[in-house]
Parts: sequence; structure tokens; C-alpha cells
Amino acid sequence: MLAEFEKTNGQSFDPRDLIHKTIGNVVMKILTGVTYDYDDLEFSRVMTNTVRVFTLLGEAGILASIPALAAIPSPTKWKIIKAWEEIYGFLKEIIERRKARFDTNQKATDFMGSFVKAMCAKGTEIGPASCDEINLMVSSFDLLLAGWDTISTTLAWGLHTLASYPEAQRRVHQEIKDVIGLDRLPQFSDHHSMPVTMATIAECMRFRPTLAVHIPHVATQDCKIGGYDIPKGGQITLNMWYLAQSPNIWKEPQEFKPDRFLNEDGEFDRKIDPLSFGTGRRVCPGEPLARTEIFLCLTYLLQRFTFSLSEGTLKNLPTHFSLTNQPKAYQIHAVKIA
Ligand code: HEM
Repeated sequence: MLAEFEKTNGQSFDPRDLIHKTIGNVVMKILTGVTYDYDDLEFSRVMTNTVRVFTLLGEAGILASIPALAAIPSPTKWKIIKAWEEIYGFLKEIIERRKARFDTNQKATDFMGSFVKAMCAKGTEIGPASCDEINLMVSSFDLLLAGWDTISTTLAWGLHTLASYPEAQRRVHQEIKDVIGLDRLPQFSDHHSMPVTMATIAECMRFRPTLAVHIPHVATQDCKIGGYDIPKGGQITLNMWYLAQSPNIWKEPQEFKPDRFLNEDGEFDRKIDPLSFGTGRRVCPGEPLARTEIFLCLTYLLQRFTFSLSEGTLKNLPTHFSLTNQPKAYQIHAVKIA
């Protein structure tokens, strides 16, 4: 990632594709232990298909929330199924290759390896019954889809926002210089000593929420939420866009103010949570991974580059609503810190 950013040599570029490929490789490394060259055709195809599923699920969300509409065949539905099948095909091929070469004595170093090992141990005392091929496929699919576009969208917004607010970016640069320095790479444990960076990330996620509307849930019984009667079978979802922009919750919500996440002692205030990952029993299970990747990617980049908006790129960038709330095309400069 760093080498690719450096190649832009301070010229105007759109970082979204590079960010997407970087995060895709992190997901693939966790899942399969393999990373891909950025121009690899197989990698590009799976990336195109995951983006397509996310984009189409945005359109299809309206259909899915009204049962009568969800039942009607539609071109969107067919396109989702086609992209979905291609991703399954890609994963199935990798799983078959892994199974064929699997050595039970080998130490598993990635998700698929660990899962295949558990499948082999099935029926023994240590082998859980749920470790079968269907579960491996579905879990891999979830990790690939949920762990890719969400993080790259958050980072794409993060870079645009930091390029739009140079003073906020300067403060993060300063903190990186003070805490990490320029001679070693950032580590996630650095976050304990970096309240300004943590507050800036939290504010980036409030300011431009990755999911404008959270995943819908269905009531399993009649209940009351916030004074409203919810009948059994009723759908409930969280309007994150409203929560993030509500003047009832945030002072001057239209302003980008990382300080709102710092307490009087200048510490990162964990109690103020913009609920970017949901809450309760169905809170996002990928939250720790997402927080780690977001912190590391941004600190790696800001340790080396200063970002600014290119001429003609709007500070108030329009959004493209898919399942995630993606930034439309934009251009920035990445100037190497001497
Ligand atoms: C910035 C990145 C991310 C954001 C903003 C995000 C946000 C969310 C939100 C809001 C939900 C719904 C929570 C609810 O229903 O209350 C969710 C669910 C979920 N997320 Fe994430 N997520 C992110 C990254 C990830 C990653 C990296 C993974 C996997 C490694 C992941 C896997 C999942 C799964 C499997 C669910 C469904 C959980 C369930 O239904 O019980 N997410 N996420």
C-alpha cells in the first residue's frame, strides 16, 4: 500500500481502488494465508463481485424490507445471485485446493486452515459438530463480504476527511511523531497513548457513517421499544445517518470536531460511542478487527504522507448509497513527509 501511494509522487489520484485492494489482501491473508498482486485477474474478479453485491444489496434493501416486493423476480435479484455464485465459486476452488493439500500435522496459520483442521477432527473429542463444509463456506463468505467493503469505505472517507481538515490532520501527524516517531512502524498497542488519533478516527466515523442504515432485525415477539409497540414479525433498523447528525445528540453535528471525543484531561472518551458497529447481542463481531485495521492503515499512511484535496474535489463530497455509504469519486495529493 505504502509503495503504491508513493508511486503517485504527489500527483492527484483517487485512492479508493488502492484502499480497496489493500483491505482485500488483509481479508484474503486472514482467510487463506495468501495475498495477491494488485493486478491479479482472479483477485480483481472477486473484488468486482464483492463491490457489486454491496451496491446491489443497497438497491435490494428496499425490496427485501417489503415481503410482497421481495418475492417478485427482479433484474437486481438475478444480478446479486450471479455475483454471489461467482464469489462462492472462487471460495469453493480455494477450499478444494486446501483440502487436497491438507496435512493434519501442519500448524494452521489462517482461518481456512484452522477450519479444515477442525473438520478433520470432527467426531473426536476436540472436533465441534458444526465444523462442516457448509459452515466453512458460509463463514468464509461472511468474512470476505462483511470484512472488506466496510473497512475500505471507512478508510476512503477517512482520507477524504483528513485531506479536507488540515488542522485535524496536523494534530494526528504531531501525535504520530511524538509517540511512534519515524523510525519504526506503528503497532496497534500505540493506540493507548494516542488519544488525538483515536478521537479523530471516532469523529471520522461519526461524520461519515459507513452504514447509513444498520442491518434490519425482526421482532420474535410483541414488544415495546422507545415507547413504540413492535408486533411480532415487525422489522426494526437503526437509522445511523440520523443518529450521527442529530443536534439532539451532538453539538454542531455538521462540524468536524475530533475534540468531542476527548475528555477534560485530553484522554480519549470511550463512553461517547457513535454506535458505528451497532450494540447489544448482535453487535458487529468484526469490530475489533475493523478497529485494528483502521488504526494501523491510517497511522501507516499518516506517518509517511500529508494529504490534501485536489483542486475541484468537494469538501462536501456526495455519497453513493449502497449497503455501505460510499464516497463518490474524489482526488487527493499524497506528499511524502521528508
Ligand atoms: C468499519 C467496519 C465495520 C462496520 C462499520 C461494521 C458495522 C456493522 C454493523 C452496524 C452491524 C449490525 C449490528 C447490529 O445489527 O446491531 C454489523 C454486523 C456484522 N458485521 Fe460488521 N462492521 C464492520 C466490519 C466488519 C468486519 C471486519 C467483519 C468480519 C470480519 C464484520 C462482520 C459482521 C457480521 C458477520 C455481522 C452480522 C452479525 C449478526 O448478525 O449477528 N463486520 N457490522
